[in-house]
Amino acid sequence: MTYASGRKAEYRADPLFVDRWSARAYTGEEISDDILFALFEAARWAPSASNSQPWRFLYAKRNAPDFDLYLSLLVERNRLWAKNAGALVVLVSKKTHIRPGSSEPTPARYHTFDTGAAWANLALQASLLGWSTRAIGGFDSEAARRQLNVPDDYAVEVAIAIGRPGDKALLHEDFQALESPNQRRPLAESVIGARFPA
Ligand SMILES: Cc1cc2nc3c(=O)[nH]c(=O)nc-3n(C[C@H](O)[C@H](O)[C@H](O)COP(=O)(O)O)c2cc1C
Repeated sequence: MTYASGRKAEYRADPLFVDRWSARAYTGEEISDDILFALFEAARWAPSASNSQPWRFLYAKRNAPDFDLYLSLLVERNRLWAKNAGALVVLVSKKTHIRPGSSEPTPARYHTFDTGAAWANLALQASLLGWSTRAIGGFDSEAARRQLNVPDDYAVEVAIAIGRPGDKALLHEDFQALESPNQRRPLAESVIGARFPA
């Protein structure tokens, strides 16, 4: 079936999942605290191993003094479109966890996995509220660590642009032809069944 975004699904997943997509064309509107914190709130309710909640969100809204610093962390190709974001986020995860009944931190085996779940919640909540998000791996995570004072026991995971989606004419010409929802490989290539073939 074809969804409002033009995406085609094989089974009837809720449009929340299928119609979320990572637009790059943003209007340049700054996001309000009300909306931004609704996204963080959604992320907060992600599941995590032992409820350890390893995610931490660092952010700069577009009119904040640190927005240019955040933008400078991105590789140039990402800066071309992310400069119109309403906020930029750097998502980090705590690599250790103090388990109930213990006072010593131990390695948190699932910190990255759990933080990915928080990102997904954030992205879906944004989509519900009419905002677009795009995760960004193309950034200097070591510079982010240094410049944002990220402690050693946190992993720098990803940057995230959050923007009010707008007309593709707002975009740098390199990205205009790419500005539509992509598709997915067939489900049968992801759902293996009980075993991989021997
Ligand atoms: C960890 C991660 C890193 C990504 N890095 C970038 C990036 O550096 N630049 C970019 O334009 N998109 C980046 N993306 C966006 C993906 O290309 C996009 O999510 C994917 O093509 C699926 O499209 P959709 O989000 O619109 O469904 C990244 C996504 C993830 C999850």
